[in-house]
Amino acid sequence: MRIDVLTLFPELIEPALAAGVLGRAIANALLTVSLVNPRDFTADRHKTVDDAPYGGGAGMVMKCEPLFAAVESLIGRNSLEHVVLLSPRGDRLDQNMVREMATWPDMVLICARYEGVDERVSRSLVTHEVSIGDYVLSGGEVPAMVLIESVSRMVPGVVGRWESVETDSYFCGVLGPPQYTRPPSFRSLDVPDVLLGGDHAAIRRFRRKEALRITRMRRPDLLAHLTEKEDLQLLAEIENETRLPIKENES
Ligand code: ADE
Repeated sequence: MRIDVLTLFPELIEPALAAGVLGRAIANALLTVSLVNPRDFTADRHKTVDDAPYGGGAGMVMKCEPLFAAVESLIGRNSLEHVVLLSPRGDRLDQNMVREMATWPDMVLICARYEGVDERVSRSLVTHEVSIGDYVLSGGEVPAMVLIESVSRMVPGVVGRWESVETDSYFCGVLGPPQYTRPPSFRSLDVPDVLLGGDHAAIRRFRRKEALRITRMRRPDLLAHLTEKEDLQLLAEIENETRLPIKENES
């Protein structure tokens, strides 16, 4: 997969591409990320990338010309079929969108700064507008990193064991189960017995049930999509376990 990132602050993104899972994916050529600075596509002495908004108002707006020129410079190495603007007014990123994006052979990410980009960029250059959540950041660089990291995890080979991706929260529509590692007992806090034995079917069932329990508590909205018989049975068990016992003299 190829990702070209348009940013006025490549120094913000560079270090995040060098370490961990992403660093390895890039070193192994599973992922190519190149950073393009729209400032390098200005024609004036001051390398101007922003200007005051027509009609007045606070802040500055990113100009059309450097952004169009920067995107057009990618012709031949990027299909430009997917040009994504990171913006708080975009469609909210979720795991389904991430999974879809992971099938794209390439994309361009545009990191906006200031009050945003000239609307003609959104209208004529951008194919998708994406937000990472209902809050406002100072620019699209951190959102672009969120997108790159989440999408690249879904590219085959990037995460060594596919099983790790499958157990990620949201991969299968629910939050992830609790995990434990050695020691089995720490300050009287014990690892559940079932995880210490070798009964793989029991371990799988335990994990699924705990994943459902956490999802029911924190994100009950996600449960509406579940249709598997086992899930519904486990949810019924959880429901029974959490029902308060009725006191005898109250019945
Ligand atoms: N730029 C500023 N805030 C943002 C957000 N929440 N998502 C994407 N891009 C942004």
